[in-house]
Amino acid sequence: MAESMQGLKRSHRCTEVSNKNIGETVTVMGWAQKRRNLGALIFVDLRDRSGLLQIMFDENSVGSAGFEKAGAIRNEFVIAVTGKIQKRTAAVNENLKTGDIELVAEDIRILSESETPPFPIEENSQTKDEMRLKYRYLDLRRPDIQRNMMLRSKVIYLMREFMAKEGFLEIETPILCKSTPEGARDYLVPSRIHPGNFYALPQSPQIYKQLLMCSGYDRYFQIAKCFRDEDLRADRQPEFTQADMELSFVDVDDVIDVNERLLQYVFKEAIGVDIQIPLPRMPWQEAMDRFGSDKPDTRFGMELKDVSEVVKNCGFGVFTGALENGGSVRGINVSGQGSMPRKKIDKLVEFAKGYGAKGLAYLVINADGGFKSSFAKFMTEEELSALVSAMEGKPGDLLLFAADKNKIVWNVLGALRLEMAKELDLLEPNQYHFLWVTDFPLLEWSEEENRYMAMHHPFTMPVEEDWENVDTDPGAVRAKAYDIVLNGTELGGGSVRIHQNDIQEKMFEVLGFTKESAHEQFGFLLDAFQYGVPPHAGLAYGVDRMVMHMVHADSIRDVIAFPKVKDASCLMTEAPGAVDEKQLAELSLQIVEE
Ligand code: AMO
Ligand code: AMP
Repeated sequence: MAESMQGLKRSHRCTEVSNKNIGETVTVMGWAQKRRNLGALIFVDLRDRSGLLQIMFDENSVGSAGFEKAGAIRNEFVIAVTGKIQKRTAAVNENLKTGDIELVAEDIRILSESETPPFPIEENSQTKDEMRLKYRYLDLRRPDIQRNMMLRSKVIYLMREFMAKEGFLEIETPILCKSTPEGARDYLVPSRIHPGNFYALPQSPQIYKQLLMCSGYDRYFQIAKCFRDEDLRADRQPEFTQADMELSFVDVDDVIDVNERLLQYVFKEAIGVDIQIPLPRMPWQEAMDRFGSDKPDTRFGMELKDVSEVVKNCGFGVFTGALENGGSVRGINVSGQGSMPRKKIDKLVEFAKGYGAKGLAYLVINADGGFKSSFAKFMTEEELSALVSAMEGKPGDLLLFAADKNKIVWNVLGALRLEMAKELDLLEPNQYHFLWVTDFPLLEWSEEENRYMAMHHPFTMPVEEDWENVDTDPGAVRAKAYDIVLNGTELGGGSVRIHQNDIQEKMFEVLGFTKESAHEQFGFLLDAFQYGVPPHAGLAYGVDRMVMHMVHADSIRDVIAFPKVKDASCLMTEAPGAVDEKQLAELSLQIVEE
């Protein structure tokens, strides 16, 4: 039977009491974690979001009716207990914040009973993900998830606090927007009042924040929900949260400066990590050449080396063929791994193929200086020794090479490098390596669309001296864009925006928009630019990713209260779901069976 809490007031959370409260009367409320009956005594571990407190029920203190109630407590019952704090009678539990005290109950109420939960509510759950997410409200009771959620709240609070102090205004932008085709796929919302028309949920507040700059709100900030209908991954959800900002009358360095101080403040206050600023910066081209990635994990070396020059005249057709096709040959040196069994090397070849490689060439340098290799027989002694020295190879090293178009070579070796680091345990979780990647290409050729696409978005400012060549060499134009990378994850990204109508119109032209289609889709922005627009720039963080890194979680699911699973559904609410005919009719919609 559930009792009311009338006349009772919680005085403390479970771990807000300590040995300083010994002798005091307190009232705590929470969930029963565990009950132990020792005949004359009953012990219950009481849990709330602060942690655990041991309650001792002794018939002499709590009375016979109270003692009977205590005996009826099962896991996850919600109870309220009033009593006195005393020094623990049994041995101190070093693992608990309240391990040296206990609460001797004088009054007990059972506020709510509980069915036996489908899985134990405990730290580091071994329960399958599907089960956890189906009963997310129970999963969210687990202490590790609760700590994640509390840290997330703190991070968002700290950001707001910092931004407010720096003179940013938090302004909300619409969730029901107009669909714009650039970027990921939109989530659409049918309009009832305008049959056949749709709103789109925002992929980011990008256009609105630029309009706010036009309107004079020279420092904008928002904790913004964003929606993207793209394939889910460990660090991608269909709805996620950005810490979004935009600034007027600034250039790259101003945005970087305020963000370095923001990161320094938030990481220090949230998790006690000191970040040395200024943070390192690396042009995109260098990141690709050295790490095969635009979000390099710089906690370890194993950098890529371009050996195209060294092998250009060698006898190995795979290498020379790739070069003749305009590609490159690059390698990584997996130092000391020369003894890797053949089977494992074969697995690496398969791994590389998963990233688009046609194969993976390897060379093991034996202790005696000889080689074990998939291609040595095609090369002369001199060619091999030149290759080894270019790779700084020593006896006992394993050299891995990919030959293909640059994009594939980077992709393959970038992924292999990370894979090897994981396997060799080179990724120190408590090191925080931040890096600005700058000077991204403005445009990226899309094989699918057979046209150039904006690498960041169509409002990104080109580097001035490159822009002159946009007609002759569009792929070489760099953008005033920057990403902030942490341990191999893109935490955030942004750019200086185009504020000149002529550049913006030209940009749309390069992207293949006609004047009409650009105006149809972005007319309001182009119009706004007719009325006095300040130079502006901004950036957005993935808040989920930031918190994920702070708690060393493997997935952003662990820092989102109610996440979706791989097929973008919610196992708890079973969204998305069918709707009834009446709702469809109101929206002038009809479902067509495939
Ligand atoms: P961008 O598309 O790079 O930039 O997004 C900014 C940051 O948001 C995070 N992020 C995601 N997090 C979780 N799930 C997703 N599906 C997801 N997609 C992106 C990443 C990313 O770095 N308007 C621009 C910013 C700007 O130019 O100011 C934008 O949205 O951490
Ligand atoms: P093949 O001549 O196809 O038997 O390949 C000889 C060796 O080169 C094998 O070890 C292949 O895995 C490797 N290889 C094939 N294609 C590539 C490539 N594009 N880049 C690197 N190695 C390759």
